[in-house]
Amino acid sequence: MSGVTDLAFRLISRRLGATHCFFEMLDSKATLYGHPKNSRLLKTLKEDSPLAAQLVGGDPSVMLDAAEKLLSLVNISFLDINSACPAKKILKKGAGASLLKNTARLGKIIKKMASKLPIPVTVKLRTGFNKRDIRECVRGAKICEANGASVVFMHGRTTRQGYSGDIDYESIKATKVALKIPVFGSGNIFNEILAKKMLDETGCDGILVARGALGNPWIFKNIESYLKNGKAGKAPALSLKKKILKVHLAYVEKYKDMREANKIGFMGKVTMWYFKGLYNAAKIRKRICKVRSYKELIDLIDTVKWSLPA
Ligand SMILES: Cc1cc2nc3c(=O)[nH]c(=O)nc-3n(C[C@H](O)[C@H](O)[C@H](O)COP(=O)(O)O)c2cc1C
Repeated sequence: MSGVTDLAFRLISRRLGATHCFFEMLDSKATLYGHPKNSRLLKTLKEDSPLAAQLVGGDPSVMLDAAEKLLSLVNISFLDINSACPAKKILKKGAGASLLKNTARLGKIIKKMASKLPIPVTVKLRTGFNKRDIRECVRGAKICEANGASVVFMHGRTTRQGYSGDIDYESIKATKVALKIPVFGSGNIFNEILAKKMLDETGCDGILVARGALGNPWIFKNIESYLKNGKAGKAPALSLKKKILKVHLAYVEKYKDMREANKIGFMGKVTMWYFKGLYNAAKIRKRICKVRSYKELIDLIDTVKWSLPA
């Protein structure tokens, strides 16, 4: 996830049960031409494994060259092609979800990469562009399979829906039934019950957790134990939540290469993920915005009242 799954996020998620993580999305041209931002995105450690990457782009040759460059820089278990990003600046470049409208090009990109790269190539899709159409959704996924994709990751929303609205479990299920390769489901996995719902309703082979892990990295352990023994997990005590936030921030402090002011701003964003839904979250946000150093932020976290709304 862009702006989210940095090294700090991956490390805290792994400590709390995530089994496989992704780098933040990488632009194919920036990767190929070695944009400095890219080397920051590629920061990793030995224990940050297994790890996958995702490239976004619309030109088959650039995508392949970028992938080869990427493989010369980092060790990854597989490479995903983004055909799901709804951001206007990505769509304008003929990349991301715009490839849902140009499946011939998407097929070419997959074929070029899957036939040349030594690791599996996967594709992240949405169920459609403008409107729900199960047949079109399955047709697009079959094109991915026919061109050499090893797995399809399906976000159960159209591009037009963005990140809101109901999840279309039926389209994911139809895709799962139609494909021989594994199909993973994505969308609204905010707790262990919704994780099981995705698996039960679609028969999919695996799930992707996205926003459900923001300020809530124990979701991975909760899902794992619920799927094993049927017991819903509890949110950790607020004192433990505070401890986990501080470990997360310590990772950001140690590993994030950013100008100091930007880093403090980023830490504020991370902190607010953990305060979401707590008493006085809006007031705390205002105070966090005024913080100017890591130490000040930790002092604030230690002094504000951590409690649930009445
Ligand atoms: C801030 C943010 C950044 C995201 N970045 C990416 C990305 O880089 N690549 C991708 O495939 N999906 C990305 N997504 C989409 C998620 O992977 C996921 O498919 C979507 O949020 C639906 O899952 P959820 O409802 O469980 O959050 C992003 C979502 C958010 C909210």
